[in-house]
Amino acid sequence: MGKNTLSITDNRTDKTYEVPITDDTIRAMDLRQIRVHDDDFGMMSYDPAYKNTASTRSKITFIDGAKGILRYRGYPIEQLAANASYLEVAYLVIYGELPTADQLAKWEHDIKHHTLVHENIRPFLDGFRYDAHPMGMLVSTVAALSTFYPDAKNIFDPESVELQTRRLIAKMPTLAAFAYRREQGFRYNYPDNDLCYTGNFLNMMFKMTELKYESNLAIAKALEVLWILHIDHEQNCSTSTMRMVGSSHADPYLATAAAAAALAGPLHGGANEAVLRMLAEIGDVSNIPEYLDSVKRGERKLMGFGHRVYKNYDPRARIIKEYADDLFAVTGSNPMLDIALELEKIALNEDYFAKRKLYPNVDFYSGIIYQALNIPTSMFTVMFAIPRTVGWLTQWRELLQDPEQKIARPRQIYDGEGERDYVPIEARG
Ligand code: SDX
Repeated sequence: MGKNTLSITDNRTDKTYEVPITDDTIRAMDLRQIRVHDDDFGMMSYDPAYKNTASTRSKITFIDGAKGILRYRGYPIEQLAANASYLEVAYLVIYGELPTADQLAKWEHDIKHHTLVHENIRPFLDGFRYDAHPMGMLVSTVAALSTFYPDAKNIFDPESVELQTRRLIAKMPTLAAFAYRREQGFRYNYPDNDLCYTGNFLNMMFKMTELKYESNLAIAKALEVLWILHIDHEQNCSTSTMRMVGSSHADPYLATAAAAAALAGPLHGGANEAVLRMLAEIGDVSNIPEYLDSVKRGERKLMGFGHRVYKNYDPRARIIKEYADDLFAVTGSNPMLDIALELEKIALNEDYFAKRKLYPNVDFYSGIIYQALNIPTSMFTVMFAIPRTVGWLTQWRELLQDPEQKIARPRQIYDGEGERDYVPIEARG
């Protein structure tokens, strides 16, 4: 094989440029030397939605979209889901290595002792309308945490970074459960540190008049697996938002709130909620062919299908589907699952989806599991945001340590009006 360089000939000037190839990429800045006149700005690459642009180097998550591979710090997601606890994987993703027993015990202790939120969060939540969407409440309360922890602005102080990391991982379930309780009109439940991370979340969500909440171990385990699968997914829309906001050196609470806002979109983390609404609209397996015809006519998208990176089955969807059967043995089956399974079977045999390499993604089955856990549809994206906070924080920490990173500021191609003079209002047509 020849030299690791790309030769580019600009036919406008007959000049040839040689740019180095590293990791099968070229540096966009190496294009700037290509110009017609010496005082030109120089060439840029144009890549709307960054479909073919690497924005960073990262050691956190590896995805092979063609083969349907997902690894956190080199460990296959299938092995982590089958063998590790949620906080164990959170530790791995953040620190890069699986914890020893002592490290895990200290990590669990540290997280448990930050689960409470300032009491002023309660009247803050009470200010929302009765029908406020939990994602709007979560984004707002996460941003509000920034005002309670001004020390978080010390983003280059390692101790502060560790403290904010623990605080956010610990408080996301509390804020999420508070949003749910507010939406339902129930009193708030406070953390019970006798319980595991997921058990404590279920306690804050569902405890009513009983003195001590008893979480079902199968349900807590199913939640552990679901949350492990959602921790990180390299440079997706919300993670890129976390990095974009983090690059301006905003504090991690504001960056996390921005990332959660990006996640809320139905094309991203809001898809799990949209999938359940779609399945409810289909209503019966007999309606599937007609629904798919409307998708093929371009009238709507098949929510929970397709992915920018996976052009094969999303490995997370495969694992969730496997766990669904075990969980429904405990909670009782969910008729939505039957519709989803039939929808997948029919869709995967349709040329429209096969030609576009559209397969079920993580959101296709996760909502059905959440529904079986009695979590309302409006809370599904909140359920996504809780574990993804670990990924967002890890990516944020990696950004701050990357000597190549500066404030993110893309350029543009201007194709608006040329210079023109102001026209007094009386002279306008
Ligand atoms: C997540 O990036 C990540 O890693 C995200 C995520 C994570 O963990 O962070 O994995 C989580 O966001 C999963 C995706 C959840 N979203 C949905 O399920 C919404 C439905 N999916 C689509 O909106 C879409 O597939 C996207 C947004 C996920 C991906 O869109 P792309 O990569 O921009 O693909 P595209 O829109 O260019 O589609 C290519 C073709 C188009 O058809 P043509 O114009 O070529 O005829 O496929 C079609 C699209 O219309 N298409 C779909 C479709 N998805 C793509 N057609 C019907 N139903 C769909 N779901």
